[in-house]
Amino acid sequence: MSDSAFRVVGLPGDGIGPEVYASACRVLAVLQETHGLRIELDEQLIGGAAVDAAGDPLPQATIDACRRADAALLGAVGGPQWDGNPAELRPEKGLLRIRAEFNLFCNLRPIVTHPALHAFSPLRPERLRNVDLMIVRELTGGSYFGKKWRDAGQAEDVCRYTAPEIERVTRAAARIAQRRSKRITLVDKANVLETSRLWREVAHRVIAAEFPGVTMENMYVDAAAMHLLTRPADFDVLLTENLFGDILSDEASMLCGSMGLLPSASLNEERFGLYEPVHGSAPDIAGQGIANPYAMLLSVAMMLRHSLDRPAAADALESAIYRCWSDGVLTRDLRADGLGTEAVTEAVCERLHGAASAQTTA
Ligand code: IPM
Ligand code: MG
Repeated sequence: MSDSAFRVVGLPGDGIGPEVYASACRVLAVLQETHGLRIELDEQLIGGAAVDAAGDPLPQATIDACRRADAALLGAVGGPQWDGNPAELRPEKGLLRIRAEFNLFCNLRPIVTHPALHAFSPLRPERLRNVDLMIVRELTGGSYFGKKWRDAGQAEDVCRYTAPEIERVTRAAARIAQRRSKRITLVDKANVLETSRLWREVAHRVIAAEFPGVTMENMYVDAAAMHLLTRPADFDVLLTENLFGDILSDEASMLCGSMGLLPSASLNEERFGLYEPVHGSAPDIAGQGIANPYAMLLSVAMMLRHSLDRPAAADALESAIYRCWSDGVLTRDLRADGLGTEAVTEAVCERLHGAASAQTTA
């Protein structure tokens, strides 16, 4: 089952980033044994750690390493010690620049609720049944990357989208919808924003011309924020622009019970992808060994599936994680007597080993 080695750039970053990244390394080592995967990890700097060590949140060495790699695995960036830095030297800038540098326009944020975790969501369990939605967030346009300026009394962040930017992310969402229920909800603010009106026109044109069988409904973002709480199971693929996607994905994470459970993939039109938990660097709990590693481990599974083309390993890892949830193997963000990062990682590794040996003896 072995093949040539994959190259993965490891970007531990800041706060709890290095702790959840270490968990990913441990699990990747087990997958090398159980699934014949060969992965060369090339660790590089990003974020505040890179500002401190190299004076740049995205050093050239990191960019060069990513160019040689199949994928990058990122922990988290940011922390209060860099909050006063000028914009170019903020940790988040490293993340925004790597997204732009590698054209990672398609951000996938799957939200799947698991029965063992229903009790940890602030929502009533009956609303959580059958929730399985995929947020497709445009990641390299909009107000995040438009012209910005400020003076003493005014500031501006221009929200700009071009038709090709909308077309390519719509195609990505439609291809995902084809493998699911073939329904897309396009979330915008077309009653107010000109960019949203362009989104509607272009996205519907792409669907009508290229994806027969896929349907797309429109929803205003304010209504979507409400419906995500009142009837989350009705969503399937949710397509939206950069800022709305940022906000709605944090909101939707609460359906699962904790931010610490949500993975993401940021993809371009080639194979390279950046994989990272949706949660941030959580400076308040950094260094205590209590960070929830599941979002990172689910991001590893997404990497195996989308950039390394190893779906069997991805399935095995996800099954091991779901078994842990059913067995109550949880961190302290979910229950007061929860386990630490390493104990949870060990539990996932044990189940991976167990499943692999069950398969060879079967
Ligand atoms: C995310 C984060 C980032 C974003 C920040 C850290 C720049 O919130 O990935 O959702 O806003 O995109
Ligand atoms: Mg966010």
